[in-house]
Amino acid sequence: MVIAELAVPVVAAPMAGGPSTAELVAAVGEAGGLGFLAGGYLTAESLARQIADVWDASSRPFGVNLFVPDHANTYLPDRPRGLSGHDRAQAVALYRDALAGEAAQRGVELAEPGVGMPDAWERQLDLVVRERVPVVSFTFGLPGAAVFSELSRAGIETVVTVTDHDEATAAISAGADALCLQGPDAGGHRGTLDPAKRPAVASLAELVAAVRPLTQLPLIAAGGIATAEGAAAMVAAGADAVQLGTAFLLTPEAGTSLAYRRALADPALTTTTVTRAFSGRWARALTTDFVLRYGPLAPAAYPEVHHVTVPLRRAAAATDEPELLALWAGTGWREATAVPAATVVAHIARSLTGR
Ligand SMILES: Cc1cc2nc3c(=O)[nH]c(=O)nc-3n(C[C@H](O)[C@H](O)[C@H](O)COP(=O)(O)O)c2cc1C
Repeated sequence: MVIAELAVPVVAAPMAGGPSTAELVAAVGEAGGLGFLAGGYLTAESLARQIADVWDASSRPFGVNLFVPDHANTYLPDRPRGLSGHDRAQAVALYRDALAGEAAQRGVELAEPGVGMPDAWERQLDLVVRERVPVVSFTFGLPGAAVFSELSRAGIETVVTVTDHDEATAAISAGADALCLQGPDAGGHRGTLDPAKRPAVASLAELVAAVRPLTQLPLIAAGGIATAEGAAAMVAAGADAVQLGTAFLLTPEAGTSLAYRRALADPALTTTTVTRAFSGRWARALTTDFVLRYGPLAPAAYPEVHHVTVPLRRAAAATDEPELLALWAGTGWREATAVPAATVVAHIARSLTGR
């Protein structure tokens, strides 16, 4: 039992794309919370290196987050899946055409939608079992019961990210050991189990209150939590722990790029928007002209759109052009400060002691 027995019920969210580092995970663990490595977009080899770095830096428990690909997602079969086949390919091609001018201006070649890592999921699963990672969380899908049994036999605690009552029910039936309830204010991707579904808009407190009566399993509340008061409100609503991403983005231990750090502190960026512009999946980011212009055109086609836009985002990072970066941020981003991760943990946990 890791989550139920945390000294401090504060979780540092997995943040794929750079912000999550072994250093951040170790620092949060040492502070009594729980840190997560972000397996999304990593090869099994890169993830293995990060796991080894955490083991070297700390003896505290930690987690690894994995993105569940559609082929392993048992939530999908009976449900409508939105665009498919030819329509989907055509929608991605149209979006790629719409971005062609942006790419040409920067001398960048947009990627083909099919480029990915076909067996990444299987290899990552093998890795976390072999390494006996203490906690594994899943996002973007619900693995089959066999996966939960295998991890359980390996002594691994499992978490599934869900965004509404129906997804929570499915994750409990599948055999998850804990749920991460993600509300609409969250930074980064919405973790809906069905990518074609418009994410729920009920508040995080409402989501926690709706799921609490369903289960005794530990519930981790995530999304827009930025203060000790906000965290305490989620625990009062029935959560056992809180998970924060954006609050850790400016910590020195995070791998957040300089351009991203500057954008988070830029007074000219005044709002966040839930957009499909970068990846084809709904995600909350700082509102830039790119988001306003291309968000309305982007189809529901993850991960194809993600792959198409990667070269554009890489070029933006190399030339320090925040406009084209996916500046994921929760609604509480203004509260994020450049203090050590342990300070964030202590600050958020202030009102949670004595549970
Ligand atoms: C930069 C960034 C990257 C993220 N990457 C992941 C990820 O790889 N896996 C995941 O489950 N959630 C990811 N999330 C979402 C978090 O798990 C969590 O739901 C969110 O950060 C909570 O909202 P907050 O950012 O307002 O604290 C990411 C969030 C951010 C801000």
